[in-house]
Amino acid sequence: MSAKFIAQQLSHPAGAIGRWILGPLWNRRNRPLNDVSLAQLDLHSVDRVLEVGFGGGYLLGRMSVLVTDGFIGGVDVSATMVEQCRARYRSLVQTGKLDLKVGTAEQLPYPDRHFTKAVSVNSIFYWPAAPSAIAEIARALDVHGHLVLCFTDKDSLQQKDFARHGLTLYNAADVQHLLEDNGFHEINLTQHADRHRSFWCVTALRSST
Ligand SMILES: C[S@@+](CC[C@H](N)C(=O)[O-])C[C@H]1O[C@@H](n2cnc3c(N)ncnc32)[C@H](O)[C@@H]1O
Repeated sequence: MSAKFIAQQLSHPAGAIGRWILGPLWNRRNRPLNDVSLAQLDLHSVDRVLEVGFGGGYLLGRMSVLVTDGFIGGVDVSATMVEQCRARYRSLVQTGKLDLKVGTAEQLPYPDRHFTKAVSVNSIFYWPAAPSAIAEIARALDVHGHLVLCFTDKDSLQQKDFARHGLTLYNAADVQHLLEDNGFHEINLTQHADRHRSFWCVTALRSST
């Protein structure tokens, strides 16, 4: 399998590779990033939470245990990931606690100020227009809504062949500027590492204007 093909699948998983390989792989391998993000979200039972790029859905499941009286919305560009997670969390979908849609970070299918919190883990490097996506997340968040963005550091990704094909790599300062310029303040960055990579977890509050 070429590095370019792998990069295409990672950015937009489709069919059996997405369903049987990438979803389960991400659920296992990205767990440390998702666990750090969950802690940073500081969820309350009544929160209305958006996840962008949920992949195999590990974090959706963790969040749903805590958000018992609120609502979780998820958007992923991959119809395969959306179908898989709708099936995995069928009962939550049926009760309306979980709403999963095919869509993009750049054009979220939700009204203004719909969510109290938003999270995205290891998805930002695939977004073709990250400034618009961050502004779009700000639009969908309530004033002072809380964003958690977690991503593998540029230095770690530069060592991977697939990362040379269409990904935009970020370090902490890049993401800090992206957030400052597109509707967020009180930005806080923490660096973490596991045996696979170094990663950043960034929290920010949606500005009032
Ligand atoms: C590396 S996976 C991470 C999945 C999950 N968040 C995790 O941590 O395991 C990246 C996910 O982002 C999704 N994605 C890529 N570009 C996107 C975009 N522009 N808008 C929304 N989701 C996107 C992909 O389909 C994929 O499910």
